[in-house]
Amino acid sequence: MADRNIENLEEISKGYFNLPIKNNPDALEVWTKLYDRQYYNLKDKAYSLFFYGLNQLSINGLSIPKLSELNCIINKKTSWTLSPTHVEYTGADDWFRHLEEKNFVITEVIRSKENIDYTPYPEAFHDIFGHLALMCFQEYAKIVHRFGMIYNRLQTQKEKKEFAGFWWYVIEFGLIMEDNQMKAFGAGLLSSFGECNNAFSDNVILRPFDVNEMKNTPVSAHEFHQKLFIIESFDQINEALDGWK
Ligand SMILES: [Fe+2]
Repeated sequence: MADRNIENLEEISKGYFNLPIKNNPDALEVWTKLYDRQYYNLKDKAYSLFFYGLNQLSINGLSIPKLSELNCIINKKTSWTLSPTHVEYTGADDWFRHLEEKNFVITEVIRSKENIDYTPYPEAFHDIFGHLALMCFQEYAKIVHRFGMIYNRLQTQKEKKEFAGFWWYVIEFGLIMEDNQMKAFGAGLLSSFGECNNAFSDNVILRPFDVNEMKNTPVSAHEFHQKLFIIESFDQINEALDGWK
C-alpha cells in the first residue's frame, strides 16, 4: 500500500492473524462476514466492472479464494502475476517496484474478528476483494502498471509522496462517473463498508478530478476521508499520467 502513515506499527498489529489465512479457522468467518455485508452494500454503489471482475474470478462469500487460482485467471487476462506476502505493510518503494514488474502483492493476513470494522493495514480482504476485480481488465491493469513505471523514475521523496497521493485518491479512494451516477472505484472504498458509506454521505466534500489538489491533499489511513475526488473516465487518469511521463 502506498504511503500509509503508520505511526505505531506494533500497536496496530495486535489482533491480526499471523498465520497464513488458509490455516486459520476464524479466517473464513471473517471473510464471509466482510463479503456478505459489503457485496450487498455495493449493489447500487460500485462501478459495474467491479461486479464483472468478481464474477470472472469466482470470488464469493462461501470460501476464501485460493491465490493460485486467482493468479491463473489474472495472468491469462492481463499477464500480471500475484504474489503472497506475510508482510503486513509493504512500503511504497517496494509496492511500486512490484507494480512495474506487473506483480500484485496479496497480503496473506486477514483482519481479526475484533477489527472487522476498521483496519488501517492492507490485508487479504482489501487486497483480493478491493483490488483484484478491476485487475481483470487490461485497460485498468495498464493504468496500474503505468503507476509503477512512473513512480520508479521519480527522483525525490517529494515527487514520490505527491505521486503516491495521486495513486491514493484514484486507485485506493477514487469515485468515478458511470451513466451519470457516481460510483465507488477505489479499492479502499470497494473493500470497506465504513469508508464506502462515508463516501456517499454528507460528511465528504466531493471534488472534481484535479491532479494538483490530489497530490497535495494529506493521506491518512486512520480516519474517514473528508474529501474525495470524482474521476470522469480512464482517459482522464491516463492523461494525468502522461503529464508525469
Ligand atoms: Fe490497496
